[in-house]
Amino acid sequence: MAFVSAKDMINKAHEGHYAIPAFNTNNLEWTQCILKAVEQAKSPVIIQSSEGAAKYMGGYKMVAKMVKELHDAMGITVPVALHLDHGTFEGAKACIEAGFTSVMFDGSHYDIDENMAKSKEIIEIAHSQGISVECEVGGIGGTEDGVTSNGELADPAECKTIADLGVDFLAAGIGNIHGKYPADWAGLNFERLNEINEAVNGKPLVLHGGSGIPFDQVAKAISLGVSKINVNTELQLVFADATRKYIEAGMDLEGKGYDPRKLLKPGCEAIVAKCVELCEAFGSAGKA
Ligand code: 13P
Repeated sequence: MAFVSAKDMINKAHEGHYAIPAFNTNNLEWTQCILKAVEQAKSPVIIQSSEGAAKYMGGYKMVAKMVKELHDAMGITVPVALHLDHGTFEGAKACIEAGFTSVMFDGSHYDIDENMAKSKEIIEIAHSQGISVECEVGGIGGTEDGVTSNGELADPAECKTIADLGVDFLAAGIGNIHGKYPADWAGLNFERLNEINEAVNGKPLVLHGGSGIPFDQVAKAISLGVSKINVNTELQLVFADATRKYIEAGMDLEGKGYDPRKLLKPGCEAIVAKCVELCEAFGSAGKA
């Protein structure tokens, strides 16, 4: 199975009432762990990179080559899409050139007319090359790549406007937040999600900030049209936790415990286990 666009896997998930996990990658090990986990869980996957993470890894071409090479070298059989997360107009165009199979153009900080015009242009360019597109209406709470948004609720009428442009899947703010959820978080706003789902006429929806949302809320969101769930923070937390335990136990000082292949192993195993757990929770396990 080669690299694919995210369109078919998301449409199938939408029809089958489950969601495709979209795991953010941060480096080589992250990518290996995600691929290992989805192959084990027999789940289709979207591997995504923010613009900041891509810069950290050496640029869009580097990311595209790394994910493709690992996919081939590991003999991955499940469908894999490589997606740009929260892309700018220029970033989305660059990723289309660099070999990504899917891009997000996040025009949620523009007024709706400008968001629409820019979204339309990206959709035209991407679709002419068989690349899927995600757009966004209404900000997602929290901070990502230095941009902070208050998690406004998306306007269903604006969602319909962008959905009607032919976008493949749509991110809409429904009280979700990037990063750790605060203890007093009000939960997802299902009333608004329901209104958006009705307004967009069966267009698959994307849930950003998928880390730490209770699984009963995840299941309800899927029943209301969510077919892609983004997870980044949760993988970072389990990696950091396992690595801290290894170092605090003095394991790096025993033998060659400082070798990065040993030092990073517990964190990597924790990422794999978390990805498998989330594939099961999102219902995508066994669907490849
Ligand atoms: P979390 O970091 O909260 O999991 O959010 C990921 C995300 O939505 C990426 O766009």
